[in-house]
Amino acid sequence: MGTTIKGTGIYLPKDVLTNFDLEKLVDTSDEWITTRTGIKERRIAKEESVVEMSLKASLQALKNADLKAEDIDVVIVATLTPEKKFPSTGCLLQAELGVKRGYAFDLSAACSGFLYALEVSDGLLKSGKAKRVLVVGVEKLSEIVDWSDRSTCVLFGDGAGAVVLESSKGESDILASRMFSDGNLWDILYADKCGYIKMKGRELFKVAVRNMEEACREVLNAAEVSPEEVALVIPHQANVRIINALAEKLGIPRERVYVNIDRYGNTSAASIPIALHEAVEQGRLRRGDLVLMTAMGGGLTWGATLLRY
Ligand code: UT7
Repeated sequence: MGTTIKGTGIYLPKDVLTNFDLEKLVDTSDEWITTRTGIKERRIAKEESVVEMSLKASLQALKNADLKAEDIDVVIVATLTPEKKFPSTGCLLQAELGVKRGYAFDLSAACSGFLYALEVSDGLLKSGKAKRVLVVGVEKLSEIVDWSDRSTCVLFGDGAGAVVLESSKGESDILASRMFSDGNLWDILYADKCGYIKMKGRELFKVAVRNMEEACREVLNAAEVSPEEVALVIPHQANVRIINALAEKLGIPRERVYVNIDRYGNTSAASIPIALHEAVEQGRLRRGDLVLMTAMGGGLTWGATLLRY
């Protein structure tokens, strides 16, 4: 049995915050942000709640999967900005969707949350404990950004991405995956007492490139797949320089690496499912293609997943 992505969906908030807008808020420049990060603009959820963004992305994913909410057994929401302390955003989403059976929960693994959720879903589907799982990566990072701290406030954005996974007999499947965490390194990226994001950027940069490369290599080796066979790499969108360094180390040309950080910034757990949906919509990812996803985030957490789409 394989784990198939039946459908994908996204929601991006309407409000756009450009680098030029940020120049008016803090001592920064479009030139600095563009050259150091690759970001030009990001979306800010002024009107939209975390649950609303999750719901819109989920409904689109269900529609693309040609399924209904009642077909879903498990709802997993990967987020570090849940709607409430409790109940989980997963339960609130379950109610909005009108799902009356199965169960829902949140998964906290920061920017690696979506890949961790895929890992859990793959286990549920392959063990026969579930037939269909809805996974959402959603963030409203604008609420936990210190808008007076130029070293972090220029980096993050809001949004949601969703996938419907199904156990199926076809060839599409999660071929290999490796998840990691190292709690000793928690203070490289965390929320402080006020709840604001704190980051040791330069340190994280180096760890990110090294760890994602290692995770990708482990996954490729486990699946006996060479980098040349990978149709598309979807990396977590934290910094275009990290993405370029990773692609170079793996020997994968830029045209086979998906980048949308210029439009959305770092949306943490939402970044990979948003990119995945766009890649499918743009025809850059077709059925049967091999896609390599990799992420690195607070925890520290990281991982890689190789999927035959
Ligand atoms: O999602 C989880 C994963 N996240 C990551 O992996 C993020 C990893 N880190 C990074 O992407 C980069 O380290 C940053 C983009 C955060 C920072 O880039 P950097 O090239 O490492 O810059 P830096 O922190 O070393 O700062 C260089 C200079 C400093 O000035 P001095 O000390 O050299 O005078 C900063 O004060 O740039 C200054 N600076 C800024 N200048 C203008 C920091 N932020 C800004 C800013 N505008 N927004």
